[in-house]
Amino acid sequence: MRISVIGSGYVGLITGLCLADLGNEVVCIDVIESKVETINRGQSPIFEEGIDELLIRCLASERFRATIDISTVAQTDITFICVGTPSNPDGTWNIDHVRSASKAVGKALGQKSSDHVVVLKSTVIPMTCETVVLPILEAASGRRQGHGLGVAVNPEFLREGTAISDFMNPDRVVIGSGDHLSSALLRELYAPLGRPIVEVPLATAEMIKVASNAFLATKISFVNEVGNICKDMGIDFRSVAEGMGPDPRIGPLFLNAGAGFGGSCFPKDVRGIAAEAHRRGLEPLILDAVLEVNDRQPLRMVEMLARSLDINGVQVAVLGLAFKPGTDDVRESRSIPVVTKLLERGAKVVAHDYQAIEGFRKLFPEITYYDCPEDCVAEADAVLIMTAWPGYSRPEMYDDKLVIDGRGVTRSKNYEGICW
Ligand code: UDX
Repeated sequence: MRISVIGSGYVGLITGLCLADLGNEVVCIDVIESKVETINRGQSPIFEEGIDELLIRCLASERFRATIDISTVAQTDITFICVGTPSNPDGTWNIDHVRSASKAVGKALGQKSSDHVVVLKSTVIPMTCETVVLPILEAASGRRQGHGLGVAVNPEFLREGTAISDFMNPDRVVIGSGDHLSSALLRELYAPLGRPIVEVPLATAEMIKVASNAFLATKISFVNEVGNICKDMGIDFRSVAEGMGPDPRIGPLFLNAGAGFGGSCFPKDVRGIAAEAHRRGLEPLILDAVLEVNDRQPLRMVEMLARSLDINGVQVAVLGLAFKPGTDDVRESRSIPVVTKLLERGAKVVAHDYQAIEGFRKLFPEITYYDCPEDCVAEADAVLIMTAWPGYSRPEMYDDKLVIDGRGVTRSKNYEGICW
């Protein structure tokens, strides 16, 4: 199949490369020329397990390339819209890029006569495809849905760090299809994966994505709240989770209590659906609480530290800046509120991460960064572990320093866990 992908960010690039690897002809289209050049040179603009090898393999196969030329859409059968939908100040999703991409794709279709399917992959408030994307596409292309134009919603469930294997081995492929054209094409495209396909109406597919992320975030805030109670009662929540997980109604995954969730999806998507609920006059009590618990959780670590020493003037080593291990992404990392609070309270902050120093330095140029965790810890009066990088687990690197562990990775001589 000939595929165009609008947006070469995290989702777009992984989608494009994986579809090319499955034997399709793919062109990734982006407005940033330098990014396009980097990709075509065989260098990935994002850090992701296995992406460098995949990119080189796809470029060598000549089934994959990147371009800034939107008119290329006309040479393909199907277009995936994978542009960013950041949060507006009120928490709703900003869909400006979705609008502009839809318009550009619609215009490009003017140069094509055969059928075309447009698939929305960006996370949006349910109904966006039907009420925003489709009318823009129809107006710009002069086509009507079902008459030369198919539209679909196909959310992604990729986790950073395992995105390629998540794409190739999905638990399910969700297809929100508005017409026969898009349904048939997407079923054919995903058939080689041999995974279950859930086909639903457009808005249902949009809600499946949002509700899945909101549910997982809820699970994390729930274990964090129960973990806080456990801590107060002298119970180790990690053992509680082990005892809960074997019940298939609960499941063993996403029971890691700790400093809370960050990243590009969970905070944004919970805020988005909660904001929509408020806008509709509904009271999203659980979703509001999920966000509140997540805001408070990292600050608990600073409070725990303050119970042991006067933070003003002490040197605190923050280990882990990425929002989780296996990525260089610092978006909504729980280290951000922690470092902010530590600086506010007069601490001298030193920090380490295996991948995310560059990104964090843009937010906090004033703190000192170390390339090696041992050097970072050496002169510190206390240590806060914010990301579960395996390198932080060795107890000997802390000797008898005070360690507040927000991720349950170590058992050093003088450590205190956030929920244990
Ligand atoms: C998530 C979803 O998992 C994925 O399906 C969706 O497409 C995008 O959002 P990602 O943000 O890459 O993926 O990371 P994930 O591994 O889900 O972790 C998100 C955050 O939750 C991290 O900050 C992580 O540390 C935290 N987390 C996760 C916990 O605090 N406890 C857990 O038990 C699991």
